[in-house]
Amino acid sequence: MKRELIVAIDGPSGAGKSTLSKLLASRLGYVNIDTGAMYRAVALAAHLRNIDITDDQALGRLCQTLNIEFERLADGERVLLNGEDVSQAIRTPEVSLLTSAVSARPAVRQSMLELQRQLGAQGGVVLEGRDIGTVVFPRAEVKFFLLASAAERGRRRFEELRAKGLSVELERTIAEVEARDEADSAREHAPLLQAEDAVAIDSTALSIEQVLETMLEVVCRRRSLANLPRGGCS
Ligand code: DC
Repeated sequence: MKRELIVAIDGPSGAGKSTLSKLLASRLGYVNIDTGAMYRAVALAAHLRNIDITDDQALGRLCQTLNIEFERLADGERVLLNGEDVSQAIRTPEVSLLTSAVSARPAVRQSMLELQRQLGAQGGVVLEGRDIGTVVFPRAEVKFFLLASAAERGRRRFEELRAKGLSVELERTIAEVEARDEADSAREHAPLLQAEDAVAIDSTALSIEQVLETMLEVVCRRRSLANLPRGGCS
């Protein structure tokens, strides 16, 4: 039987990956997998258990004890860590910074890589992250690389955090976005890279709807080439 596509969305933080990944998956009837949330859950667990984040062995052992799940509800998606809802706790600026460091550790990457491959193997998935098209699924049928200027990405993150009632400053949020970009791109293991065969979309001056339509066009063309049913494609 033909399997549905694997769609990879990579790019720096704040480029719109989470929003677009969810919308695209919902239009196509695919499962959405937020791999950043998985790394965030590991970072939160390491923090709560006082684990030295330079200790690869301890991190590797920690990953073995974690059960990370996504719960899809009518009003959104929840991230569960060993059964507990951590959707809010993994999004604080502190956990964001810690995640950058934790996600650079080889033991953590290996563990998440296996989990992500299991979750996506059947197809019919949109995975968003930093290394989906290059490392996790280098043979994904559709790959996007979503970009936007650092100032615009910082502004979006600022609005997002403010809407959640967190007290934040714009300048500081932009600086944090830049610091994370630097850490995610400069690291030795699975750095942020654009796959050669990825479709790059700069969303700085585009609306969410415009980016979504562009993505749908690309996916639907690929679906039609693979003779897949037209579900979600008009
Ligand atoms: O997308 P996000 O902001 O939730 O990602 C959080 C951190 O996790 C970010 O610093 C990059 C890292 N990450 C990664 O290294 N690989 C992924 N596939 C996804 C996220």
